[in-house]
Amino acid sequence: MVIVLLGPPGAGKGTQCKRVAEKYKLVHLSSGDILRGHRTNGTELGKKAAEYMDSGKLVPDQLIIEMMAGAIESAKGNCVLDGFPRTVVHGQELDKALAAKGRKIDAIVNLVIDDSVIEKRMTGRRSCPACGAVYHIDTLKPKVEGFCDKCSSKLVQRTDDKPEVVKQRLEIYHQQTAAVVGYYAGKNHKILDVDAEKSVDEVTALVVAKLDGFKAV
Ligand code: AP5
Ligand code: MG
Repeated sequence: MVIVLLGPPGAGKGTQCKRVAEKYKLVHLSSGDILRGHRTNGTELGKKAAEYMDSGKLVPDQLIIEMMAGAIESAKGNCVLDGFPRTVVHGQELDKALAAKGRKIDAIVNLVIDDSVIEKRMTGRRSCPACGAVYHIDTLKPKVEGFCDKCSSKLVQRTDDKPEVVKQRLEIYHQQTAAVVGYYAGKNHKILDVDAEKSVDEVTALVVAKLDGFKAV
């Protein structure tokens, strides 16, 4: 099964994808997390991606498509995609790759949220560099301030969560990523819109209700 979670930066894709992956026994594939892993490990891809990520720009299509095709293959096509596809070209390439294996996307969830809510979420986010867990200084606090509940590592603020980079990421979302919703609607995919301004648990309940109510799942 392939589920795609769309939505702007800071909408809660990572938070919700972790829960969807657990519930439906899928592999959570976050293009952003995979890229950050490459940077931590100092790979060639990580080095090439760094300047784009730190300035809030998209990493070039060719690098991303190859990276995600490999990840989907490793997950044997049972995955929830987070942060990919992010351009119409990504969508076209993903469709081609799945079609070559007689597959298609099973469900598309779109997290709907206003830009004004996003800034607060991103500037308050704290992430675990070791296990990838995500917290928020107001809405999702760790048990011990500054440390991960799961692995006790020191939490960090992402380098692209500075206000000026957040602004750039939102602009790129509106210029290039929002069109992915229209691309799939034009291909007769039902887009499962979810109000992502509600609390984390409420959003999870809405996502699960939409997925359970959707026949393909
Ligand atoms: P990526 O890591 O994908 O970042 P993003 O899409 O900008 O999204 P975020 O991870 O910032 O937010 P999220 O929606 O996952 O929200 P989260 O759950 O953390 O990409 C980073 C960069 O990598 C890109 O800018 C680009 O350079 C590159 N890249 C990645 N993929 C690429 C691709 N396909 N092509 C090209 N380049 C690519 O939640 C945010 C915060 O809000 C958290 O603190 C959380 O606790 C809190 N929160 C979540 N939900 C709620 C809620 N309901 N109520 C209150 N708080 C909440
Ligand atoms: Mg994320």
